[in-house]
Amino acid sequence: MLPKHVAFIMDGNGRWAKARLLPRSAGHRAGYKRMTALARHVFACGIPYCTFYALSTENLKRPKEELGSLFSLFSEFFAKEIGAMQKEGVRLSIIGDLSLLPEDLAASARSGVERTKEGTRATLVLALGYGARQDIVAACNRAVDLGRKVDEAEFSRLLSTGGLPLPDLIIRTGREIRLSNFLLFEAAYAELLFSQKYFPDFTDEDFDRALKEYARRDRKFGTLRPQE
Ligand code: IPE
Ligand code: IPE
Ligand code: MG
Repeated sequence: MLPKHVAFIMDGNGRWAKARLLPRSAGHRAGYKRMTALARHVFACGIPYCTFYALSTENLKRPKEELGSLFSLFSEFFAKEIGAMQKEGVRLSIIGDLSLLPEDLAASARSGVERTKEGTRATLVLALGYGARQDIVAACNRAVDLGRKVDEAEFSRLLSTGGLPLPDLIIRTGREIRLSNFLLFEAAYAELLFSQKYFPDFTDEDFDRALKEYARRDRKFGTLRPQE
């Protein structure tokens, strides 16, 4: 079975650059190039939802210089890719708190979402200024504003991932084995895969291998299979 929603924790850009004696910004640029190509490959495999964890709430504590290079890359991505996504029928969705980003960047992100909203072939989700704990607390506060108790399905819809299917497969590159505040509620039954490669080195073929590994996993969701 193919996953319907694959999510990437795109980690290791800085170490990729360091290993080449390049500045960290070069690693982020290489990561962005890879992300754009990998998203196309994921959609070409017939997977309709693909998420990239591009900037966490906690990443906003990094030095100004690094954040500046990340923000310019996101701006460049919106300037260059939105037109192509419109043509390819790919809808952009953003999860995270855009108010944490510079106003002009938040505005281009919102405009990208608006301009691609008719896309029906696939959905590219960018997690920008995203933190799962913060998202869960925001959803709790929305539930309080509703003035009544909510059930699990309704609570899920109050999260920023509300309109998306749950992630089936989460791939983290860059050798660390943790979730780093990513989709903590949604990942309850996701399959997790950790790659030794730094994100800029994670190829389409690595993804194909990840899909084979996913196909071998026995997803039971806590139940027994019918024959058991
Ligand atoms: C991932 O790469 C991109 C972001 C978190 C913004 P890192 O910048 O975390 O790269 P490493 O982990 O330092 O190698
Ligand atoms: C996770 O990577 C966040 C993103 C990829 C956006 P980090 O590099 O921020 O995670 P930690 O600090 O190693 O947990
Ligand atoms: Mg990292």
